[in-house]
Amino acid sequence: MDEKIKSVTEDSKTYPPSEEFVRRATIDAARRKALLAEAAEDHVGFWKKLAEDELQWIQPFTQALDDSQAPFFKWFADGQINASANCLDAHLADNADKTAIIAEYDDGSTRTLSYRQLHTAVCRFANALKKAGIGRGDRVLIYMPMVAEAVIAMQACARIGAVHSVVFGGFSARSIHDRAVDAGAVALITANQGKRGGKTIELKKAVDEALELGEHPIKKVIVFKRTDEQVPMVDGRDIWWHDAEQGVSDSCDPEPMTAEDLLFILYTSGSTGKPKGIQHATAGYLLWAKLTCKWVFDIKPDDIFWCTADVGWITGHSYICYGPLLAGATQMIFEGVPTHPDANRFWQMVAKHKPTIFYTAPTAIRTLAKLGHDLPGKHDLSSLRLLGTVGEPINPEAWRWFYEQVGGGRCPIADTWWQTETGGATIAPLPGAVDAKPGSCTMAMPGMDAAVIDENGNEKPRGEPGILAIRKPWPSMLRNIWGDPDRFRSTYFPADIADGKYYIAGDNAVQDKDGYFWILGRLDDVLNVSGHRIGTMEVESALVASPQVAEAAVIGRPDATTGEAIVAFVVPQNELPEGEAAQAMSASLRDWVKKEIGAIAKPAEIRFGSNLPKTRSGKIMRRLLRTIAKGEEITQDTTTLENPQILEQFKKQS
Ligand code: WTA
Repeated sequence: MDEKIKSVTEDSKTYPPSEEFVRRATIDAARRKALLAEAAEDHVGFWKKLAEDELQWIQPFTQALDDSQAPFFKWFADGQINASANCLDAHLADNADKTAIIAEYDDGSTRTLSYRQLHTAVCRFANALKKAGIGRGDRVLIYMPMVAEAVIAMQACARIGAVHSVVFGGFSARSIHDRAVDAGAVALITANQGKRGGKTIELKKAVDEALELGEHPIKKVIVFKRTDEQVPMVDGRDIWWHDAEQGVSDSCDPEPMTAEDLLFILYTSGSTGKPKGIQHATAGYLLWAKLTCKWVFDIKPDDIFWCTADVGWITGHSYICYGPLLAGATQMIFEGVPTHPDANRFWQMVAKHKPTIFYTAPTAIRTLAKLGHDLPGKHDLSSLRLLGTVGEPINPEAWRWFYEQVGGGRCPIADTWWQTETGGATIAPLPGAVDAKPGSCTMAMPGMDAAVIDENGNEKPRGEPGILAIRKPWPSMLRNIWGDPDRFRSTYFPADIADGKYYIAGDNAVQDKDGYFWILGRLDDVLNVSGHRIGTMEVESALVASPQVAEAAVIGRPDATTGEAIVAFVVPQNELPEGEAAQAMSASLRDWVKKEIGAIAKPAEIRFGSNLPKTRSGKIMRRLLRTIAKGEEITQDTTTLENPQILEQFKKQS
């Protein structure tokens, strides 16, 4: 067996939840067993009952699953529902004064909103959107800082049946433009500025630049005034949020949507140069966002939930904008970064707001452990009872630090594997029922038929790596790729794996002897940098768009903090730079990538050569580039290389 697989799966010390945790857990071992049995016996019936029990329907559905157009599955299709009504109106009768959101700004000031206040804010903004001519089915881009208004904007879209597409606030003008065009968005919601880590983020400026880059369908830009700074407003196109709300009513009836109506499009990286617009449908997505909050995060009426993700990613959609509100929870939203003003920030915030459940990313955990191994111990973290991670595999060392130093050895850790495409946690523990193993996302959730298979669709024996697949459709699965159904089918239901019958996640995985899943990395050319998906092709396309670059190959190298780091091998258009000239070109190309995509896609390292290592048929040998980037000795066969001397050129630059 591969050494890596052996080492991850055989260090099988398990961490059971404490008796106290189990006593209060929504799902204990017996309940989990019953759920698994129900799902195994009648997959569709299992989901049908949950959808009836958990969601508030305007018009009940009669058919749970329509698989007549597989793999374009439909769930609960003839039912009518509104997402925002399920998140907000559902709590007004009994919990209107309960705190929905505790927002902490970058500078440490805070603001809270009750369910009633949030409901009013969403209704007002929904009416403002209507007044601006935005309606059912229209696509609306949202480019916002991590303040409550980001959630209000998303909820307001859902309330009137408009389709939001949130663009992470760190993406560039070019990325905004491309998404606006691809989605055919008619409006854009942004803020004059944002604040992150003490820095000012010029959001409106990026939007203005984006809308100058070429033709686009955006007719209205609504600007939230986050700071006192004035920004140029384009007559007829731009309007301040507070002006748009002038004279509108505090109530707005939720638009009756069908279950399968699009709730949102969220762009994510794939193996081509162009991000794909993942489509989620209303009811199925909501169902799982709510249930996973109850099952995985064990959210109860007195819990305070804190998910540190940005609303620009799927985690911020499912576990900030929708799930916690569906579950009627109190949640925290944080505008800033964990390291500002210093690495105590998260722990100070825990002591101050007393969250009981804390969900974050391995890269944040590793960064904070490195910056202040013993800092959590200096704060009162006793409110915490459950921890969670998402985005990438967590290394056992970081896991144990999180468990001991942050969780005080008493909080289970839910390592949740899922994807933009799956809508919510898919392979994850029910923490009161499944013991944890550091580094494993444990077992498939009830209703999720996850398996490790070979190309013929046969399950791999335990201990043998293979392709991670989900074999039965589930309500929160993506419905399509915006504007590209062929790509949807060929990416997620490829004909050469199990005859296209199964959803293929794009990850490699192995199950250990106990059936625990261990994620081994992507099967495609997608990198995972600090838990963010970045396509190598996307970065390559950005690089070759520079007049300085003739050719580029991008690969990932393991990195102790960010999981993977981006390394670019570049063939310059003109002469090969050396010494200071190489440094200067490297700096300017890194800036270029930042401008083309965003700071998260900036290569950590750029090496220059007069060509790339290619086979005689012209194929770039990326495996060799990976070996070079890691600084390892090349042991692969290089005899098929057209130009082996190139390797020396690249190696010299380490
Ligand atoms: C990776 C984030 C290991 C995986 C919710 C997946 C993980 C991709 C985990 C999806 C985990 C996410 N353990 N790997 N707990 N969670 N991944 O779409 O490669 O941003 O395919 O969704 O992140 O990233 P996405």
